[in-house]
Formats: sequence, C-alpha cells, structure tokens
Amino acid sequence: MTTNTFYITTPIYYVNDVPHIGHAYTSLACDVLARFKRLDGYQVYFLTGTDEHGQKVEKSAKARGIDPQSFTDEVSMHFRNLTKTMQFTNDDFIRTTEQRHKQGAQAFWKVLEEKGAIYKDRYAGWYSVRDEAYYPESELVNGKAPTGADVEWVEEESYFFRLADYEARLLEFYASHPDFIQPESRFNEVVSFVKSGLKDLSISRTTFSWGIPVPGDEKHVMYVWLDALTNYLTALGYPNRNDPKLKQFWFEGKFSPVHIVGKDILRFHAVYWPAFLMAADLPVPHRIVAHGWWTNEGEKISKSIGNVIDPVKLVEEFGINPVRYFLMREVPFGRDGNYSREHLLNRTNAELANTIGNLAQRTLSMIQKQCEGKVPTMGSLTKEDQDLLALVHGNLGASGIDRHRAFIDAFRFDMMLKDIVDICIKANEYIDQQAPWTLKKESPERMHTVLYTLAETIRCIGILLLPFLPEAAHRLLDQCSVVKEARSFEALSSASRLQPGTPLPVPEGIFPRMEDKSLPQAKGASA
Ligand code: MSP
Repeated sequence: MTTNTFYITTPIYYVNDVPHIGHAYTSLACDVLARFKRLDGYQVYFLTGTDEHGQKVEKSAKARGIDPQSFTDEVSMHFRNLTKTMQFTNDDFIRTTEQRHKQGAQAFWKVLEEKGAIYKDRYAGWYSVRDEAYYPESELVNGKAPTGADVEWVEEESYFFRLADYEARLLEFYASHPDFIQPESRFNEVVSFVKSGLKDLSISRTTFSWGIPVPGDEKHVMYVWLDALTNYLTALGYPNRNDPKLKQFWFEGKFSPVHIVGKDILRFHAVYWPAFLMAADLPVPHRIVAHGWWTNEGEKISKSIGNVIDPVKLVEEFGINPVRYFLMREVPFGRDGNYSREHLLNRTNAELANTIGNLAQRTLSMIQKQCEGKVPTMGSLTKEDQDLLALVHGNLGASGIDRHRAFIDAFRFDMMLKDIVDICIKANEYIDQQAPWTLKKESPERMHTVLYTLAETIRCIGILLLPFLPEAAHRLLDQCSVVKEARSFEALSSASRLQPGTPLPVPEGIFPRMEDKSLPQAKGASA
C-alpha cells in the first residue's frame, strides 16, 4: 500500500520587517493542515521560510545602515523563532539567500532559457517596490498601484518571460481543474484576469544588485518573484531530480503541493507560477488556496497607522491556545477577518473555558470522586448514550472524523472547531439531563455508564483538537490516560475506546477563563 503524500507550503515572508499577525495566520493554517494530515496517516512535508532578496529588503537594510546579508540574517531569525512560539511543525525553513536555493533558482532559469521561454529586451513601465510588482498604466488608480502602494517609473534592459504564450494553456488548465484555486470566488477572479490578456513578464532587474545573478549575464539579478516562487522546488532538492523529497512530494505526490497564500499574492501563484512550471515541463501545483486579510479592531493594519499586531506579544498575553483557537475559529478561511481583543476573550471564555473546558473538568472531577479515579465501567447503553457517542465514533451516520475530513478538504477550519464546540454543548446538555450526581445511590451502575460515555466523548474531543491546540489537546488526553500511540485519527472509533478500570490522574482545568474587567462577561457558547 502506498502512503498518500501531502506537501503544504506557506508563502516565504519578506524580511523587510518583523512578523505580524498576518504571517502567523497563514502559517497557522498550514500547520493545522499538516498536523491533520499526519494524524490521518499521510506522509507530510510542511515548508516555510523567508524571501530575502529584492529592492524592498535592500532598502530596509540601507535604512538600518547595515549590509543586506546581516540584516536578513537578523530578521529571518524572528520568523524562525515565531515557528517555535506558535508551535508550528514545519519540516524545513528555507531562506532564499542560502546556497541551495540560489543554485536551484539559477538552474530553473537555465531550463526556462533552454526551452526558449526567455528573451532579452527593454522594460519601460511602472514598478512598486512595496508590492515588488509591475503595473500597467491601465491598472493605476490616481497615480498609485491598485493596492495603494507608490509606484516608480523604471526603464532598463530586462529579460522577459513569454507569459503571453501561456494564456490559452492556462485557461485550458483552469477549465479542466476547477478546484485548482480555492475558494471558488477567487477562481473566477483569476480566470477573468487571464482572459483579459497576458503580457510578457519582465523577470530581471539591473538597477540594484541584491538578488540572484542571472546565469551568464551577471549585470542582471532575477526578479524577486521568480526567485521566490522557485523556493517550493529548491527546498525539495531541485534541480536534483533524484532527490527523494522532490520525487515523493512533487513528481509523485497526488495531493502536492498545496500552496496557502494571502489574496494579495494569488496572481503570482495562480498565474505566473503555473506558467513558469509549464514552461519548464514540471507538474503544476495541486491547489492554490487564498485566505483573506485581517484588520485590527476594524482598521486596516499598517505600519504608518501603528496598529500592527505582534503575534509574540499576543501569545505572551493570552497564551498559545486562545490565540491559535481564535485565529482558526473566528472567520471562514478565505474571508477577511477582524482582530478584536473583545472577540478573542469572548471566544476563549464562551467556547474554550465554559463549554469544552467545563465539560472536561466537571466530568473528570466527578469520576475522580465517584469512581475512585478510574475509568468507569460501561453497562448497557441507552439511546441517549449512543446518540452522543455516535457524534464522535460514527455508529450512526458520519463520524467526527468523516465530517472533519470534508471540512479540511474545503479549508473550513472554523467549521471543524464549531463542530467540536457543538458536540461539547450536547455533552453538557446530556450531563444535565442524566444528572449523574443523583444516580449515585439509586443506580451506581447507571452513573458509571453515564460518566463512561462522557469520558469517552472527551477522549475523542481531545483527538479532534490535536491539529488546532496540540498543547491543550495532549494535556486533555493525558487526563484521560490515553497512551501516545493511540493519539491519531485511527483511534477515533469505538474499537479504541477507554478501558474501564484504567487509573486517571487528578484533573486540572485546561482552559482557564480570562478576566477582563472592561468587557461584558461571556456566558456559555451559542451554536
Ligand atoms: N514574499 C512574498 C511571498 C512570496 S511566496 C513565493 C510576500 N511576503 S509577505 O511577507 O509580504 O506576505 C506574506 C503573507 O502574509 C501573504 O500571504 C500575505 O497575504 C500575508 N499577510 C500580510 N498581511 C496580512 C494581513 N493583514 N492579514 C492576513 N494576511 C496578511 O508576499
């Protein structure tokens, strides 16, 4: 049996400044996907890294009065540290200033040249350093880029990629792969952009030097986007076609690669990148998924406004679990989201503390007191017991994991978390209806069965939470005495259920309530 492979990538981040919430968000979505697929038995490769060349980075280094290499060494380290703070499980961290990348990017250039996809000419037009993008006059709005960035007039000798030649091929490809770009609304946007006509793309610059030299013509450096996009290949060992990573995750991977990007950089990934790959005779990506942008308390996030959110500070203040939870739960992936302190605290209190945490704490403390701190015995199950367990095991209809597989394929992280909260709401209602505390005298056996049903539900909730809140989920599973080998989706069935009599540790609250006197107090979660 061959194992399914899954190659997931974040964009590589510009090192002109330290990481902010937008960067943490993109990588978090990739981390959840990577963890989910690993738990589901896939062979996963999760890549992130930093994009270190180009005029924007060179300018920032100059402003700091240091050479670009020392500057990028320093800033890149912040992104590397963020992966630890956010508990990301990336398998590699690539920097475009590394030798392995520079060699690979130059090899890619040579292939494009050999295939006749590159020619030399002159570029005369608008360029935005902030966006590292060329804009035709027709796209400018009041003399600025459509993103609001300043543009400057550039006239220089340049190499061009024959992008116009790929218009028909790209359109054919989109038509035969309607799932290529997610969500669907973004698909239409890309198709109409390509239908409106593609022009050849300038892919080298001569007016600055912080970049990868063009092979054979070192007065030119490669356009930073061509350099950057090839990171997805060079990290796998390209151009060495015998590299097992390249083989497994690019050539043979059925679900590889999946590129997660912000909506602002969709065009580069969904138009330029597949065209480059087609020109080089390499397989094109499996999916390009574009997410929305975050605002801060309703305002656009920008350095000039001074409202940039530092993810490290956020984790210091609220803890890793509330931050990961909020970012994945608050908005459907693909839509814009708004960071608000109040919403973060409300979500934490209503859903993590009052619903999931409360279910675990009240059940496990009762077991500690009433069942000698051991997994209770399981008598015959009533319809109510079976209905609750079916939500996680799937004796009736879709099990927790079937529903979650469908959600993950649609990148609906918010729905997965809502599903978990909904199960916990039902379990809390079940406790109130069954009232195990009244059963102690009249029917101890029934009390045991009710508490067993709840403990087993909590075990499964712990497993379902693993991709999102690994730290909290592992503590929850510790409290259910679930051994390490049984912490995977395979164990989400009645066959792997808790064994009565297993000793359980004294429970400790996992999701504390967060008080903020300035905010209205949250009640239990609403569906
Ligand atoms: N270096 C390029 C990517 C090259 S990939 C081959 C780049 N870097 S970036 O650092 O500017 O942006 C990286 C990602 O952060 C993008 O996906 C972008 O959408 C995301 N975000 C930047 N600000 C954001 C928000 N305010 N909200 C959500 N994501 C945002 O582009």
